[in-house]
Amino acid sequence: MRMRNKYRKPTRLSCNAGSRCSISAVVWSLIGCLLILHLYSLVHQKDGMGGEIQFRMTHQPQFRELEEVEEENIQIPPPRGKRSPRAAKRRPKRTTTLVDEFLDENSQLRGVFFPDERTAVDPMKDLGNDTFYYYPGRIWLDTDGNPIQAHGGGILYDEKTRTYYWYGEYKDGPTYHAHKKGAARVDIIGVGCYSSKDLWKWKNEGVVLLAEEKNETHDLHKSNVLERPKVIYNQKTGKYVMWMHVDDANYTKAAVGVAISDYPTGPFDYLYSKRPHGFESRDMTIFKDDDGMAYLVYSSEDNSELHIGPLTEDYLDVTETMRRILVGQHREAPALFKHDETYYMITSGCTGWAPNEALAHAAESIMGPWETMGNPCIGGNKMFRLTTFFAQSTYVVPLPSFPGSFIFMADRWNPADLRDSRYVWLPLIIGGPVDQPLDYNFGFPLWSRVSIYWHRKWKLPQGWSGLTWM
Ligand SMILES: *[C@@H]1O[C@H](CO)[C@@H](O)[C@H](O)[C@H]1NC(C)=O
Ligand SMILES: *[C@@H]1O[C@H](CO)[C@@H](O)[C@H](O)[C@H]1NC(C)=O
Ligand SMILES: *[C@@H]1O[C@H](CO)[C@@H](O)[C@H](O)[C@H]1NC(C)=O
Repeated sequence: MRMRNKYRKPTRLSCNAGSRCSISAVVWSLIGCLLILHLYSLVHQKDGMGGEIQFRMTHQPQFRELEEVEEENIQIPPPRGKRSPRAAKRRPKRTTTLVDEFLDENSQLRGVFFPDERTAVDPMKDLGNDTFYYYPGRIWLDTDGNPIQAHGGGILYDEKTRTYYWYGEYKDGPTYHAHKKGAARVDIIGVGCYSSKDLWKWKNEGVVLLAEEKNETHDLHKSNVLERPKVIYNQKTGKYVMWMHVDDANYTKAAVGVAISDYPTGPFDYLYSKRPHGFESRDMTIFKDDDGMAYLVYSSEDNSELHIGPLTEDYLDVTETMRRILVGQHREAPALFKHDETYYMITSGCTGWAPNEALAHAAESIMGPWETMGNPCIGGNKMFRLTTFFAQSTYVVPLPSFPGSFIFMADRWNPADLRDSRYVWLPLIIGGPVDQPLDYNFGFPLWSRVSIYWHRKWKLPQGWSGLTWM
């Protein structure tokens, strides 16, 4: 049981409408309530601890390794060029410099954030003990030896073919600014699709939804914007349905687009775009629940809040139902997942291509209310944690054999050359009590903690897929 009714006024317990009640009764009942709340919190905390220990016990030793905190100690290089002794005394502002270095194309730390092709992860090479290792931030090659192009992506597990499909923005074109004030952009090429059995070795299945080359009035004309494509399968219609953010170069259209295919590998037919529920829609995701209901989540009202609403049965449109969530919190890049009948979401702040702090949110009902828990990032160093490891959330992949364990997928955007943006995949684990105060909650650990652990290299524990070939 969870004590969820945080809005209940304690006075109501002793003071029904119409009945007389003394001030002292109110005070005493208040004190009583506080005592109960305090006791509850102690018990609940104990429960949480026990749960965590148990949780750890259920994991194989390899998974426990992923929960170890890995520190990063990156030295900010001294400024180049001549330095007067006086300048040397003025210490650079450490808290902002690492982000500055990250955003500076000519930084000496470039290779730390964007290591070059010499360290690329190449699944076709005999990597010996390095096989199956993820190296967040390194170039990641497909089975043809080309860098994977699936940015702002998401993953579909196709039951029929027992294959994972990774869809994302295919951005292998030049980065430019459409005009002075415009954001760095790459013309739409389309949605890339990659297939894999092991979530590590990816085969290029081609561009499954193509840009429109000629027709300038088409949503997918190359001069427009196509971001964050996500695909789900509709059991009833047997169709694969793709939702994406479509926009013009100035991000004023703010709409969702829908495409459909008979096969996970496409080609997808583009159907239409719209403003869902009549509202602006920019960063978005879709989520398919266990009961087959699917939902659209999108940043709206100038990105100041998120909206969530169920899709129609065929997944081709939204219904009339919509709730505003995280109102006034200015979040984007939503990635939704579920564990133990609780819904979780990771979001980012709104700072364009620059990285910022992730937040985790939780809800008992997918339609809300959603509560903000805090920053889920663990390890690295403070700047790593304040910048989501210099990346932005895009999707969270469940690992069915390890309930409560997920892969957190994020994009390390490279605004100087967007096609060279990197993937940051890290283990995400739900378990144990929260360690940060929640919004308006009397300090109760209402939700299990969501943790994303930094690792320079890591791999999934054996048996993660429940298959024997791993
Ligand atoms: C793999 O790891 C084992 C044990 O740590 C070690 O003995 C072996 O040399 C490694 N092989 C390669 C190719 O790195
Ligand atoms: C161009 O695209 C618009 C919008 O999708 C469509 O209505 C129109 O028929 C297209 N024109 C051509 C020549 O295909
Ligand atoms: C985008 O904005 C710029 C400058 O404000 C303007 O010149 C341009 O026509 C706009 N483009 C679109 C597609 O709206």
